[in-house]
Amino acid sequence: MYTEKPIQTKVLQISDITRGAARIDLAARVLREGGLVAFPTETVYGIGANAMDPDAVARIFQAKGRPQDNPLIVHIAELEQLDPLVREAPEPARALARVYWPGPLTMVLPRSGIVPDIVSAGLDTVAVRMPSLPLARELIRRSGVPVAAPSANRSGRPSPTTAGHCIADLDGRVEVILDGGPCPVGVESTVISLAGEGPRLLRPGAVTLAQLEQVLGKVWVDPAVLHHPEDDAKVSSPGMKYKHYAPKAQIVLVSGPVDEFAAFMDAHGSEGTYALVFDEDLDKVPPPCLSYGPERDSEAQARALFAVLRRLDDLGATKVYARTPAKSDVGMAVYNRLVRAAAFTEIVL
Ligand code: TXA
Ligand code: MG
Repeated sequence: MYTEKPIQTKVLQISDITRGAARIDLAARVLREGGLVAFPTETVYGIGANAMDPDAVARIFQAKGRPQDNPLIVHIAELEQLDPLVREAPEPARALARVYWPGPLTMVLPRSGIVPDIVSAGLDTVAVRMPSLPLARELIRRSGVPVAAPSANRSGRPSPTTAGHCIADLDGRVEVILDGGPCPVGVESTVISLAGEGPRLLRPGAVTLAQLEQVLGKVWVDPAVLHHPEDDAKVSSPGMKYKHYAPKAQIVLVSGPVDEFAAFMDAHGSEGTYALVFDEDLDKVPPPCLSYGPERDSEAQARALFAVLRRLDDLGATKVYARTPAKSDVGMAVYNRLVRAAAFTEIVL
């Protein structure tokens, strides 16, 4: 039904889920019938399809230009939707769900037979998340199916945190874009694997390592979270082996005090070179200079980061020197995204 080209993408504004009910219903019907819907979650916008329909899921990979070996997260609206998707949900998973679902936490669990291979890219696990943004949950609930949804960017672009970002990447490639405003978290969900021997953090997000450890005890941090994965090393989360969140410019992380950073920029400034700094630095560092939030507010940095990476693209930046963020708590997620955007290039002043 949705194979005709080109697709006329409908952009539907939703100010609240009660007044937007008819529009959400329309999007839910598109999902049920095998179409693609971009929708906001509390983390980033996702591009959703019925997870039980392999043809619909195949269209996600096509629309994003995503490698087929990178599995998708299945989104649910109610806890009862979890059990059919997994062979088992061990007690640690139930404990995490009680505290952090709905919310920005994805759990990797042993996959049941009903999850199509294409969703899990052939792995014997499935990643599941229950988002907390009311619009996302209402869409999933009304669709009546679990919704497979990666971030709604073209592969290799920064994740979208506004409907405008989705339009820039996916206009003509999806049936519907639901515009629910900017995403309140701004970086993708925390991903934890509970399918191996012990809990393992695969991707840091707004649910922090300390918060996970409060519920689970010791959590192993996959080395690829903070370091360059060796080319031949086994990667636990296929998404981590790709250069991610990359703007067109070459990004280099620079750590050190702001006055030394300013001197560094004096020496390295040239046509197309930008500094990416904290709000407090804007009058200390020579222009052109953009900021991604206050130095001591990792949550604000998370909200701002992807939009500023896109802005650098729009400005035609070719080289970006970025001040290194704090790595603790939500800062671990901000650092993880930036160091990947920088292909792990970092200078210490
Ligand atoms: O916040 C989010 O998680 C957003 C919103 C839309 O929910 N989604 C998102 O999806 O970021 P995506 O596809 O861009 O990132 C999913 C990550 C990838 O790194 C992927 O490799 C990993 O989760 N993943 C998915 N299934 C997995 C599995 N079975 N085992 C290990 N890693 C998995
Ligand atoms: Mg993504």
